[in-house]
Amino acid sequence: MIWAQSPDRVIGLDGGMPWHLPEDLKHFKDRTLGHPVVMGRRTWESFPERFRPLPDRTNIVVSRTLDADDAAGDAVRATGAVVAADFGAGLHAASEADGLDLVWVIGGATLYEQALDVATLAEVTVIDTDVSGDAHAPALDARWRLTQADPSPDGWHTSAEGLRYRFERWERPA
Ligand SMILES: NC(=O)c1ccc[n+]([C@@H]2O[C@H](COP(=O)([O-])OP(=O)(O)OC[C@H]3O[C@@H](n4cnc5c(N)ncnc54)[C@H](OP(=O)(O)O)[C@@H]3O)[C@@H](O)[C@H]2O)c1
Repeated sequence: MIWAQSPDRVIGLDGGMPWHLPEDLKHFKDRTLGHPVVMGRRTWESFPERFRPLPDRTNIVVSRTLDADDAAGDAVRATGAVVAADFGAGLHAASEADGLDLVWVIGGATLYEQALDVATLAEVTVIDTDVSGDAHAPALDARWRLTQADPSPDGWHTSAEGLRYRFERWERPA
């Protein structure tokens, strides 16, 4: 799983992200490039049309409605993305495309909740901002360990626009 959150786990507001942090977009690209990305329909719709599908990654969009609606589903498939009827079908499509060695679940909140049982890695960008939101990252329980923090577990980078952020890696035994 990979996401960016505020300290109180906000990841989204009104179908978008309540911050602009190019350094995090670069981090996301560096981590996910070359691997399948599985996302919910609302996350797919949050990307501007010119940016989807995300290039050089098999894009898998989990959606009951797109799966059931031929025209809407075909419009998404026409971009090169794969439509999956549920989360399990999304993972299956990812394994068909690239093998299951590394599949990224890229959100949103509903997909992270479903991925918690199978995921063993969470790349979390913590952004030091106080925002309200309507989508939240899942809580990682005691099985998860912080295995890497950049620059450090309580340190911050400062973005060109003055936003403080930290990259954390959390892992859980399979
Ligand atoms: N900060 C970050 O790193 C980050 C990352 C990703 C997203 N976000 C934000 O998160 C928000 C979107 O998250 P969200 O939780 O509202 O939506 P979401 O998880 O992106 O999408 C939800 C939709 O996915 C489909 N879906 C989910 N589980 C399914 C299942 N088991 N079977 C079939 N379809 C399923 C459904 O689509 P249908 O209704 O079509 O059936 C559902 O309405 C946005 O604000 C976005 O910007 C933030």
